[in-house]
Amino acid sequence: MNVLLFGPPGAGKGTQAEAIVARLDVPHVATGDIFRRHLKEQTELGRLAKGYMDKGELVPDQVVCALVTDRLAQPDASKGVLLDGFPRTVSQGEILLDWFSKHGRAVDLVLSLEVAPELLVARLSGRRTCRSCGRSYHVETSPPRVEGVCDSCGGEVVQRDDDREETVRSRLETYLRETAAVLPFLSERCPVVRLDGSQSIASVGAQVAAAIEQAQSAP
Ligand code: AP5
Ligand code: MG
Ligand code: ZN
Repeated sequence: MNVLLFGPPGAGKGTQAEAIVARLDVPHVATGDIFRRHLKEQTELGRLAKGYMDKGELVPDQVVCALVTDRLAQPDASKGVLLDGFPRTVSQGEILLDWFSKHGRAVDLVLSLEVAPELLVARLSGRRTCRSCGRSYHVETSPPRVEGVCDSCGGEVVQRDDDREETVRSRLETYLRETAAVLPFLSERCPVVRLDGSQSIASVGAQVAAAIEQAQSAP
């Protein structure tokens, strides 16, 4: 299955991704995580992406699309993929759907996580992220068992540079200006399930599981 996880910054895409990839046995392709990995390894792409990420703006479409289509062409993604944080502009959506159709594939399911804006700021400002595996935590609602240490991989758990308040505001504005329009674009072309992302992590997880089960049993 090819699944897209769509939603504003802080909606819970990364949080839900772990269970989805385990369930579907497909790779998790999160463009933000890929950029952060490049940044850590100090590659040219990492340096370029940082300029945009620090301002809460989007990395240019041609850069992101080349990265994603290369990734989709790798053998481990041939049976399916979970895309998280892509597409984020209508133009990225067009390029993705073209690529799938040229390769005899399609988007089987779009999961849209819908969360009230006031909750997003609280989630992002309290978020902590594992530097090694990218797992998300929250200082109040879901801290790691040992402060600063990732439960999954033992990596260092820190605040993401772009989770500081002024950058969070700018990311939410960028979402409204450039990304919100991707949902109606996708709705006209792919099966979309809208989920109430304001509920607890477990309850959103149950909605996600039900949507996947239904899509898998669809003719
Ligand atoms: P990216 O890393 O994709 O960031 P984002 O879209 O802003 O999304 P987040 O990762 O912030 O949120 P999330 O939905 O994953 O939430 P999470 O599960 O962590 O992108 C970063 C940057 O890279 C962009 O700004 C851009 O510059 C660039 N970029 C990336 N993709 C691009 C693209 N396609 N085109 C151009 N540029 C691109 O959860 C958040 C917090 O909430 C956590 O603390 C978590 O514990 C908590 N939480 C989650 N679910 C719940 C719940 N149900 N109840 C309570 N708390 C919850
Ligand atoms: Mg994320
Ligand atoms: Zn980790």
